[in-house]
Amino acid sequence: MSQRIAVIPGDGIGNEVIPESIRALEAAARRFDLQLDFRHFDFASCDYYLNHGRMLPEDWKEQLGGFDALLFGAVGMPEKVPDHISLWGSLLQFRRHFDQYINLRPCKLMPGIRSPLAGREPGDIDFYVVRENTEGEYSSVGGKMFEGTEREVVIQDTVMTRIGIDRVLKYAFELASRRPRRKLTSATKSNGISITMPYWDERVQEMSEHYPNIDVDKFHIDILTANFVLHPDWFDVVVASNLFGDILSDLGPACTGTIGVAPSANINPEHRFPSLFEPVHGSAPDIYGRNIANPIGQIWCGAMMLEHLGHEKAGQAMLDGIEAVLAAGSDQAPLTPDLGGQGTTSELGEAIADAIRDGDRR
Ligand code: NAD
Ligand code: IPM
Ligand code: MN
Repeated sequence: MSQRIAVIPGDGIGNEVIPESIRALEAAARRFDLQLDFRHFDFASCDYYLNHGRMLPEDWKEQLGGFDALLFGAVGMPEKVPDHISLWGSLLQFRRHFDQYINLRPCKLMPGIRSPLAGREPGDIDFYVVRENTEGEYSSVGGKMFEGTEREVVIQDTVMTRIGIDRVLKYAFELASRRPRRKLTSATKSNGISITMPYWDERVQEMSEHYPNIDVDKFHIDILTANFVLHPDWFDVVVASNLFGDILSDLGPACTGTIGVAPSANINPEHRFPSLFEPVHGSAPDIYGRNIANPIGQIWCGAMMLEHLGHEKAGQAMLDGIEAVLAAGSDQAPLTPDLGGQGTTSELGEAIADAIRDGDRR
């Protein structure tokens, strides 16, 4: 049966890394005899906005709703369109409308990559950030008063619902129970944020009673960021609200060498809507157009997408291909500059696709 994938490159390096993800997916599809049917869309980009006055066509829900998955690059060209317009008009609409309430972001120190943290080896850093993805600090509830006067006031509320918190906690606890260490860390700030965060802690406490085999701890977000740097080996599954999860999921991958390798899966676990797979990084306007962006984050997204669609072996083969090329090191493999090499986006993508294709011959 063929899987229908909507491809939305967006802006900047999204356009450079998406073709490498497709190349790798096609290599996996050939090896595992999968039918992947890609359809490309030019909306959700700042150029589309400049031409149409909006980020998405009116019927985007109908256009995208029937796909099995969305493979997404990155959005944002702040010099052309303000970020809150381009992102609220695209990615954040997808997450909310398609109820992708889990944002799953692995942080793993891969073989061949040097962590900026002294003495850390592969195996020392291997955890997931499970980020709440549809509510929390990313609500659009609030407003401006007395605009343009010296009494100007801006208010934006944090919205946390019992259903919203419980469903992300349940996902995180289930994930922790499938991992050997069975450990879950909650990111909180209930010492300073006096209503929503104590409520978050209460829900964690109640959920933990259903999972007596999971070792649960919590840290306030400030010391948690410090512990990511000082003790990344402490973590296994880290569950966080939308904003805290956003911050942790750039910090975690930075500890693993470069944010260029980090993927994310915006998941609707019930499969009622398509899930969306995008790298953690953005459109990187500072390096766009030079063919030096690291394509690994976007390729790993392809692996997570195949796994989500039930093709675990093919997804694992893609990850094995990435690891094999990284392990070869910059003397052997065309690693991009963020990995200390001199390779280009397309050379690295090609090497990974070859490794995926040849996997069973190694
Ligand atoms: P960014 O992730 O785009 O870039 C941060 C830094 O990391 C830059 O120096 C960039 O060159 C580098 N970098 C990022 N990806 C890389 C890769 N694959 N290989 C090598 N280096 C890489 O973050 P930013 O600069 O804060 O944001 C730029 C734009 O992207 C903004 O418009 C922002 O809103 C948007 N953004 C979009 C998404 C998304 O669509 N999911 C995520 C983050 C930021
Ligand atoms: C991410 C990004 C987005 C977020 C931005 C671009 C709105 O940083 O996917 O991590 O904050 O969720
Ligand atoms: Mn982010």
